[in-house]
Formats: sequence, structure tokens, C-alpha cells
Amino acid sequence: MTARKLADRFGRVATDLRVSLTDRCNLRCSYCMPAEGLDWLPSEQVLTDDEVVRLVRVGVELLGIREVRFTGGEPLVRRGLVDIVGRTHALGVETSLTTNALGLSRAARALAGAGLDRINVSLDTVRSDTFHQITRRDRFQDVIAGLEAARDAGLGPIKINAVLLRGVNDDQAPELLRWAIAEGYELRFIEQMPLDAQHGWSRDGMVTAEEIFERLEREFVLTPAAEPRGSAPAELFRVDGGPATVGVIASVTRPFCGDCDRVRLTADGQVRNCLFAREESDLRAALRGGATDEELAERWVVAMAGKRAGHGIDDPTFLQPDRPMSAIGG
Ligand code: 5AD
Ligand code: SF4
Repeated sequence: MTARKLADRFGRVATDLRVSLTDRCNLRCSYCMPAEGLDWLPSEQVLTDDEVVRLVRVGVELLGIREVRFTGGEPLVRRGLVDIVGRTHALGVETSLTTNALGLSRAARALAGAGLDRINVSLDTVRSDTFHQITRRDRFQDVIAGLEAARDAGLGPIKINAVLLRGVNDDQAPELLRWAIAEGYELRFIEQMPLDAQHGWSRDGMVTAEEIFERLEREFVLTPAAEPRGSAPAELFRVDGGPATVGVIASVTRPFCGDCDRVRLTADGQVRNCLFAREESDLRAALRGGATDEELAERWVVAMAGKRAGHGIDDPTFLQPDRPMSAIGG
């Protein structure tokens, strides 16, 4: 069996696989979903646990995947999560989870036991009322409990992803950072991307990395952390001389597409070579049609070859992807 790589025409090689385990979520973040939710994928279209693990194994054993991150929607709402994490860990790759932390207080210990290496929690505010306003659910305390359980279970260092929304929480960046430092969480701000189901994103509405710096520098001294950025999208800064750091992910204003090492698998078994891809490649049909591991790998290689140079958000011809973030996986 020949080991292949997930290479594209621009010399990039994908080694980091993001797997969406469900398109469902128990929050309704305004930058992601409408209040009423979305038309969820019919269950027969969603990969089974065995199918997910098989595709992950093909990625790892035949295509050079070294790191697997599980996302959603909200991956904790998937019943088989702990089992999938355990079987992925057994393949010898790093495993991580991006979650909103609802239900994490119950699952953290089992996830750590299954071999989960790292966790990223999405949290945009440390005010209960702002949390309710952004997510349309009054669940702030559950997130805090989930974070603490994850820390107690040894899942640290825990990263927190925050999106700032103009007029909603954009004045809360310093207090979020102060809280994260006190709790020992690594905070990263992410520029809002045009991935909402409602197509409500606008360039003017987005809080830019520049603005985030400007707001943080009113209260903290930020100095670039020494490590080069590489394929890690966050630009890291030491806070007040360190050791605490803060990250800024300027996905829109300073795209890092040239260093991208990611590939995505949706909950319904489609390979996406980019968050903003216009096309997907159907591995589920191949898998259910009896394809061998080699054939699945070959399809995957072809899907990657068509990866575009960049997301082109600034292009006049930019088109938002047909599926929202919750169906693609962060
Ligand atoms: N832009 C930037 N980040 C987003 N997230 C969800 N939607 C968007 C968006 N439109 C974040 C979530 C989570 C991660 C998966 O992506 O807050 O942290
Ligand atoms: Fe759920 Fe994440 Fe979307 Fe919020 S951003 S609704 S937590 S999938």
C-alpha cells in the first residue's frame, strides 16, 4: 500500500483533519444560526460511528493525517463521541475537540479517559446576560461548569475562542482577557467570517483584528510572542510581559490560507478542502457503495487537488459557501 499525501497545486499538504460529528447545536449564536435553528441533516445521511472511524483511519493510515479535531455543530450532542475519540486516539494521532462546553461537566472525565488531548471552548463573554443575548440561551453557568470540569479532568491547557460583535460584546475584550488569565485559559479572538446561515455578515459589521488590538492595548501591553506563526492561524502576543498570552485569528483581514494544513469532513461524509469551498466530494456514497480503503483514499486525494489558493473574501466575486459553519465544522 502506498502512503500518499493530501497535497494541492500550491504545495500545501493537509495533515490536520477537522471532523464535524453533527450539524446540530444546543445554542443559537446569532453569528451562526437563526433563532429557530436549521433543517438538520436527516439521520440516515449522517455517518455512523463506524463510518466516521473508518474515514479517519483512511486519513491517518493512507494519507498522512496527524491530528484530528472533532467539531459540530456541537460535538457533545453526539452520543458516540467518547467512543469515536477513543478509537481515533488508538490510531496514534492527536485528538482535540471544539465545543461550546454545554454538557462538558458530565463528559470531561470520560473524554480524558478516552485519550482526548486538547479542547477549545467557544465563549464570547463572561457576562451571563450578554451570553444569553448572543446564544439565545440562558446557559452561561453550564459553560463555566464545563470549563472547570475539563480543567479538573486534566484536559488543559484549555483554549477559549471568542468572536466579538459590534455593539454586543466588542467592549468586553479586556474583561474577557482578564478573566481568562485569572482562570488559566488561553484566549484567542477570531474575526467573524461570512459563514452564518442567515447571510447577515458584512465587512463593516465585523470587528477587525486591528480594533481588537486597539481595545486590548488600552489596558494591557501586548508584545509579539517569539514563536513563528507557521500554519497556526493565531498570532500570539504576550500580555504585560508574560507568561500569559492572547491570540488573534485575523482570518479575514490577514488570511493565512497560504499556510493552511487543514481538510474537513462533514457529518454527512463530504470532504471539503476549505471552509469556503464551493464544491464537496462525497465519500459517504463511495463508502456505502462498497469502496475499498484505497478507493476512498484516491477520491480524497482528488478532492484536495482542487483546493483554491485562498478564501477570497475580499474578492468582488466572493460567494459565501452553501452550507453554514455549523454544517461544515469549525
Ligand atoms: N466566524 C468566526 N467564528 C465563528 N464561529 C462560529 N461561526 C463563526 C463565524 N461566522 C466560531 C465559534 C467556535 C468556532 C468553531 O468557530 O465561536 O469557536
Ligand atoms: Fe452552536 Fe457553535 Fe453555532 Fe454557537 S457558533 S450556535 S455554539 S455551532
